Amino acid sequence: MDQIDIIKPDDWHVHFRDSDILKAVLPETSRHFARAIVMPNLIPPILNENDALQYKKRIENAIPKNDDFNPFMTIYLTEKTKKNELKYAHKNGAVFAVKLYPAGATTNSASGVKDIKKIMPILETMAEIKMPLLIHGEMTDQQIDIFDREKIFIEKKLDFICKELPELKITLEHITTKEATTYINEGNKNLAASITPHHLSLNRNAIFVGGIRPHNYCLPILKRETHRKALIDMATSGNSKFFLGTDTAPHLKGDKESECGCAGIFNATYCMSILAEIFDQNNSLDNLESFTSLNGSNHYGLKPNSKKIRLLKRKYPITFIDRIKVKKQSIIVFKPDFPVFWEVV
Ligand code: NCD
Ligand code: ZN
Repeated sequence: MDQIDIIKPDDWHVHFRDSDILKAVLPETSRHFARAIVMPNLIPPILNENDALQYKKRIENAIPKNDDFNPFMTIYLTEKTKKNELKYAHKNGAVFAVKLYPAGATTNSASGVKDIKKIMPILETMAEIKMPLLIHGEMTDQQIDIFDREKIFIEKKLDFICKELPELKITLEHITTKEATTYINEGNKNLAASITPHHLSLNRNAIFVGGIRPHNYCLPILKRETHRKALIDMATSGNSKFFLGTDTAPHLKGDKESECGCAGIFNATYCMSILAEIFDQNNSLDNLESFTSLNGSNHYGLKPNSKKIRLLKRKYPITFIDRIKVKKQSIIVFKPDFPVFWEVV
């Protein structure tokens, strides 16, 4: 098969940032994706309806004229988030979902949640009003090995939330482990997970090939090959609990290539090409559409998009541009370590 048409995909996890970076990266997403859930971890974070509405305006102003793109806004959950504000913001459609960052888990998460018990009343309200909870599922205890933080979060925190509130719609974001695939697969019907193209493409060796590779550093950190294989198996299986959330996370080149380089991989540009390649290599092109365009909208109770996109398999590997310009600086574009023949046309 060297041509496929699929329903236009959605990206259920993006970081657009703001100002010049927002303007530079937004077209990379709006070119191929119809909708996206936008993460609230700006500095300062998006904390309420007003912040979300203003940020949405700035995003809409950055959408290229011919792109038909719809951003879904989130707010950043803190121990001070107000139940009633949340209810109102969800009811009037301003805010789609709530993001839970354990405090200190990742880029710009300092004001996140320290004690999950403190936010249980808010989560109860969310379950009542059917507002989705998006979770960065990692322990933040620095004593815990960085490669175990997701697995232990599932055992100690996620399992507690799911048992207390089985009616709450939860997305465990950017899963990276075999344990996560199993837990989600066996979990209640309101629990699903997003998977990124970089966690499907690379294992943890990629952070250290021939030297330290800051552009392959992200959180949750890349894991062993056995885990990557488990993610591939789930993503390509068509299982409706697993869907695309790219976690495309732009950082300026200098901020990645530094003494303390930040976490995040910018993958929006070639995401669909890379996924088609991976699904093709696993003889699962038939399930690409489920992963990128059906399972996520189904989990969120939304209709699939009506438009389609076409992908072609070229004779020779496609050439990747290596960076996106942001004024005089740049953002390095994610490129996997295998040739990619597929292209969106
Ligand atoms: C994200 C970012 O840069 O905002 N970084 C990352 O490595 N994924 C934050 C996040 O989603 O964890
Ligand atoms: Zn993210």
